[in-house]
Amino acid sequence: MTTVAPALQQRSATDLFAHLLRHENRADPYPAYEELLRQPVVQMDDRTWLATGHREIGLLLRDPRISADRLNPQQQPIRKSLLMEDPPRHDQLRHVVTQQFIPRIMGMRDHIDALVTALLDAHTSERPGQLDVVGDLAYPLPVTVICELLGVPREDEPLFGALARRLTRGLDPVSTQSEQEIHELQQARTELAEYLEGLIARHDADDRDDLLAGLLHGRSPDGPMDPIDLRVTLGLLLIAGHETTVNLIANGTLALLRHPDALARLRTDPDLATPLVEEVLRYDPPVQMSGRSTLADIDIAGTTIPKGARIRLLLASGNRDPRRFPDPDRFLPDRADNAHLGFGGGIHYCIGATLARAEAQIALTALARRLDSPRLVSDPPPYRENAILRGPERLPVAFDRLLPDPRGV
Ligand code: HEM
Repeated sequence: MTTVAPALQQRSATDLFAHLLRHENRADPYPAYEELLRQPVVQMDDRTWLATGHREIGLLLRDPRISADRLNPQQQPIRKSLLMEDPPRHDQLRHVVTQQFIPRIMGMRDHIDALVTALLDAHTSERPGQLDVVGDLAYPLPVTVICELLGVPREDEPLFGALARRLTRGLDPVSTQSEQEIHELQQARTELAEYLEGLIARHDADDRDDLLAGLLHGRSPDGPMDPIDLRVTLGLLLIAGHETTVNLIANGTLALLRHPDALARLRTDPDLATPLVEEVLRYDPPVQMSGRSTLADIDIAGTTIPKGARIRLLLASGNRDPRRFPDPDRFLPDRADNAHLGFGGGIHYCIGATLARAEAQIALTALARRLDSPRLVSDPPPYRENAILRGPERLPVAFDRLLPDPRGV
C-alpha cells in the first residue's frame, strides 16, 4: 500500500469523504480511500453510511433488502429508470432492454476498430505530434457508437452532451444540496425529456433498425415499450453510453503512460488488452461510487445499518481493498483473479460492460501501436468536476509521429 499522507490519518469518515469529493483532490483520491478502508462499513455525521470494503460492497449489492432508489424525496423523477428501480419492475425493464441491446453490440468490434483508426488519422493530420486523448478519441468514440446503436443523430451531440454533463452533476453528492442545484437538475431533466420526446415522435415515421426503433415498435416478444419508460430508458442509455467509457479510455491511457513497461507489452501483445482493461477498471474505475437505501435493518461488518438508511458504496475503495487484492495500489496489467467492482455487481451489473470493454481494448491497443514515443504533457492532467464519474477533462499527449497500423488496415 502507499503511505497515507499524515494529514489524512486519524480523520473521521465524514472528513475523509468530504476530502475525496473536493475537486482539488480529484487527481488522487486513493489515499483517502485507503484510510476509509480501515472501517469497511461506517456511518457519517449526516447519518448516511459508507461501505468501503470489497466484501461488504459485494454483499450489499446482492442483498434483496437493499433498494437501488438512492434519491432524496425532492429529487425524485416522475418515472425512475431501471438503474433506480427494484424487482420486479427492474427485472422486467432490464429484460426488454437486454433483448434489444445485446444482439446489436455483437459483431461491432470491426466497426469500432474502423472508428478508432479514422479518429486517430483525422486528428493527427490536423495537429501532428499532439493529441488530446479525451477530446480527440475517448469522448467521440463512445458518443458515435451509442448514437448509432440507439438511433440518436450524432450531430445533436452539442445539445445532449451538455445536458448529460448537467444531469450527471446531479449524481454528485456535492452538487445536490442547494435549492438552486436541485432546480437546475430538474431543468436539465425537462430539457432532455423534451429532446427525446421530439426524437421519438420523428422516429415513429421512419423505417429504421436501431435500438430506439426496436423498443418503439416492439420488435421483440415483449411488445412495444410504454412511451414514458422508452424515453427514460433512452436517456439512461444515452448518458451511460458516453459519460463513462470516456473515463475508461482516458484513465487507461494515463495508466499506460505512467507504466511504460505495460505500454511496451501492449504494443506487441494485443492479447494483453483484455486483462489490462480489467485492471484499469479496478485500479482507476470510471464510476467511483454508487448508492443504495435499506428496506430493513442489515447486520454487516459488526454493525447494523438501520432500515431507511442511505448508503454510498465506494466501488473505487473496494477495488483497492488489500483483503481482496494483493498489492492493491500496483497497476498489474495481467493481474489474476481480478474480480473488481468497476461495473458494479448483482442485479444492476452494467448492461454496457461488453461494449465499454471492447471500445477501451481497441482504443488503448491502437494508441499503444500507433503513437511513437508518447508522453504526457501534464501529469496529473486537469480533472473533470464530477467525483462519481471521475476522469480527466483533457489528456494532452505528445508523440514523435503517427505510425501506420502494423496490421495494414
Ligand atoms: C466504462 C464504462 C462503464 C462503466 C464503468 C459503467 C459502470 C456501471 C456501474 C458501476 C453500474 C452499476 C450501478 C449501480 O449498481 O448502481 C452500471 C449500470 C448500468 N450501466 Fe454501465 N458503465 C459503463 C458503460 C456503460 C455503457 C456503454 C452503457 C450502455 C450504453 C451502460 C449502461 C448501463 C445501464 C443501463 C446500467 C443499469 C443496469 C441496471 O440497473 O440493471 N453502461 N454501469
